[in-house]
Amino acid sequence: MKIGTELYRKTMLTVSSNPLVEKLTLRYGKSLARKFIAASDLEGAIEEVKRLNSKGIMATLDHLGEGVTQLDQALSYRDEYIRLIKAIAESRVDANVSLKPTQMGLALDKEMGYEHIRAVVREAKYYRNFVRIDMEDSPYTDATLEMIWKLHKEQLTNAGTVIQAYLYRSEQDAKDCIDQGIPLRLVKGAYKESSSIAYQNIKDVLWQYKRIIQMHLDHHVYTAIASHDDKIIRWTKQYALEHDIPKDRFEFQMLYGLRMQEQVKLAEEGYRVRCYVPYGTMWYPYYTRRLAEKPANLMMVLKNMGK
Ligand code: FDA
Repeated sequence: MKIGTELYRKTMLTVSSNPLVEKLTLRYGKSLARKFIAASDLEGAIEEVKRLNSKGIMATLDHLGEGVTQLDQALSYRDEYIRLIKAIAESRVDANVSLKPTQMGLALDKEMGYEHIRAVVREAKYYRNFVRIDMEDSPYTDATLEMIWKLHKEQLTNAGTVIQAYLYRSEQDAKDCIDQGIPLRLVKGAYKESSSIAYQNIKDVLWQYKRIIQMHLDHHVYTAIASHDDKIIRWTKQYALEHDIPKDRFEFQMLYGLRMQEQVKLAEEGYRVRCYVPYGTMWYPYYTRRLAEKPANLMMVLKNMGK
């Protein structure tokens, strides 16, 4: 990501927060968003996971939704996740789940958000499954970390969260999570954050990203490296090779619709690969973050528009 790319990302995130752009995209952009969204319902998503599994790729299912504004919405998301966990068990697909704290009501009522997430994690524990709590923007970092620590104290250890390499604080957060045995997904970070709390230059982000990955691999903690970036993937493979770290001690994660051939290739090379599979109707924020990440993603959509 060069300076120009960083400017592109910020501009896209700003433009997509404009209500008119949102309205127009929701009205006309649904078929274009399909590239990144696996299905509009649970049944369709499970079918897509079966297809991925047949290629040796595991999945994490995300029922799209975030920033709920009413308590009953959060409750219905909780119930949808419980339904999802049961459906994974019944269909015997190789998948876990990812959810967003604000989808469970964190921004409305912290305690209630926690209760909802705990209910999902309990259900997943019953079925021997795992819940990844995605990391959202910085107003929720502390609350998300507190929640994961609390879950682990309650012996709900089948939950993990995400560390974003662009935040200055992340190295310390990653250390604290390692000390408590919390499984992490490591990412660069997808939101617009200010220079008072986050690195703005990709070189700094990559530097901290590698340090955090290395710290995890060195501490023998199962690690999920979620990136489409060849520099990161190559570096991780090489580091693991040089330090005799077996391939089953970490996994690569990528998003549905992006670099699918690379996902298959990594799986064929014997790496554990997990595809993040979003489904549902609340696709706008997720979709615009994907477009903001890379001009090529926008180009792909524009190309499809012409068809
Ligand atoms: P980035 O977009 O920085 O691109 C770097 C390079 O990678 C490119 O120059 C190109 O060489 C290559 N590349 C990237 N995309 C490509 C493509 N489509 N085709 C070919 N080459 C490509 N963020 C967050 O804040 N909270 C979260 O919980 C999560 N969760 C999450 C889960 C998973 C599974 C993934 C993959 C990502 C996230 N993220 C996230 C998003 C993450 O923070 C980050 O914004 C994106 O992954 C983009 O960064 P990358 O490292 O993937 O590549």
